Amino acid sequence: MESKRSSFSGKIGFVLAAAGSAVGLGNIWRFPYLAAKYGGGVFLLVYIILSVTFGFSLMIAEIAIGRKTQLSPIGAFKALDKRFSFVGWLASIVPAIILPYYSVIGGWVMKFTAGFIMGNTAEMSHDKYFSDYLGQVWEPLGWFALFIGLTSLIVLFGVKKGIEKVSKVMMPILVVLILGISIYTIVTMDGAIDGVIFYIKPDFSKFSIMTVVAAMGQLFYSMSLAMGIMITFGSYMKKEIKIEKSVHQIELFDTGIAFLAGLMIIPSVFAFSGGDEKALGQGAGLMFVTLPKVFDSMPAGNVIGVVFFIMVFFAALTSSISLMETVVSVFIDKLKINRKLSCLIVLIISLFLGISSALGSSAWKNIKIFGMQFLDFFDFASNNILMPIIALLTCILIGYILKPKFIVEEVELSGKFNQKSMFNIMIKYIAPIFLVIILVSSVLNALGYIEI
Ligand code: TRP
Repeated sequence: MESKRSSFSGKIGFVLAAAGSAVGLGNIWRFPYLAAKYGGGVFLLVYIILSVTFGFSLMIAEIAIGRKTQLSPIGAFKALDKRFSFVGWLASIVPAIILPYYSVIGGWVMKFTAGFIMGNTAEMSHDKYFSDYLGQVWEPLGWFALFIGLTSLIVLFGVKKGIEKVSKVMMPILVVLILGISIYTIVTMDGAIDGVIFYIKPDFSKFSIMTVVAAMGQLFYSMSLAMGIMITFGSYMKKEIKIEKSVHQIELFDTGIAFLAGLMIIPSVFAFSGGDEKALGQGAGLMFVTLPKVFDSMPAGNVIGVVFFIMVFFAALTSSISLMETVVSVFIDKLKINRKLSCLIVLIISLFLGISSALGSSAWKNIKIFGMQFLDFFDFASNNILMPIIALLTCILIGYILKPKFIVEEVELSGKFNQKSMFNIMIKYIAPIFLVIILVSSVLNALGYIEI
């Protein structure tokens, strides 16, 4: 399977493909709710600092590993150091954990798209609409099954390219809509300005180690780091393309969209609730509770709601396709089975894991793992435990066994590496120490010793 690697055409092709995979529900759904929950401005600041230092270095490292070895993650880690083969495996497990609960949320998006199409805007804008919906058993299951089913069909028939084309057109429209909705809220709604201040101005009294833990987890998730994705992308990247510049572009794009999504959602929370702690700490449901209210209050909100949720649906679908594609190709390569069977196995595993996430607020709400519902547990286990472990091992491999020069040489193939010293220091010293702190805090939190 790995003998012939096609490569991305043109300079912008690589950046667009990588950004397309990076931008998804992580930016639009996950980032705003975390920012609201973890203190607004202070979370945003920590996130941006982490993104340009840590995120930058790790993304450079992963892309360079891929381009240098020309292999997929499992092969790449094995080729670099036999003892690190398991890291490639570990990295491949992450998308398999994310895909099922990602699809549950994809199902929520479909449900809301359908709701707006049917003109139920007013009904959906009630406070309890979303929680009541999650309290049901069959409907959330149905939408989840539809979303993962659709993803599997696309992966199975390889019509991925078509979907990606559509989503490339939709992405700029989505950005314009997000901007428009933010401006509308801020200009027309009382109290929204307080939300903007909460979101932009750091309040250091709200800072805790958990701000960093959450921001770091979000960084991995949003930039699709520490799960082999960027290694795969790197393996398709032509030698003459500048790695450093591309990483800056992907970063800017990804963080920019996340920032705008926060600007759209957080001020509305303030407008509708006066910024009360409970509304801000909604968690995973924040976007689904807040946006219908905004659309309900807008002229032609119904239509805008439909268009907006369709775009989000496409952003989610392209991400779920690439998550599934990753898992499917690992199975094809390693189990030596065909595409059909591999898709089927991944679908069954995902259905199984996803059902538990979909029922976490209804039939199975009394089952808790470390005090978390299934969806939160899978999210936590992948972003706050597995990904830091993979990132830590990657840093050790590069910083101490292969030496940073290994990566630097690859980056310099296509020009000067401007932030070389920062990269060296990050990979060798700062990132590993940081990751250990993150891991310890996450584990202590899961065991109930400290509160996130
Ligand atoms: N980064 C994606 C988002 O923000 C989610 C994601 C995580 C992803 N890992 C991935 C997407 C792997 C594609 C491939 O929504």
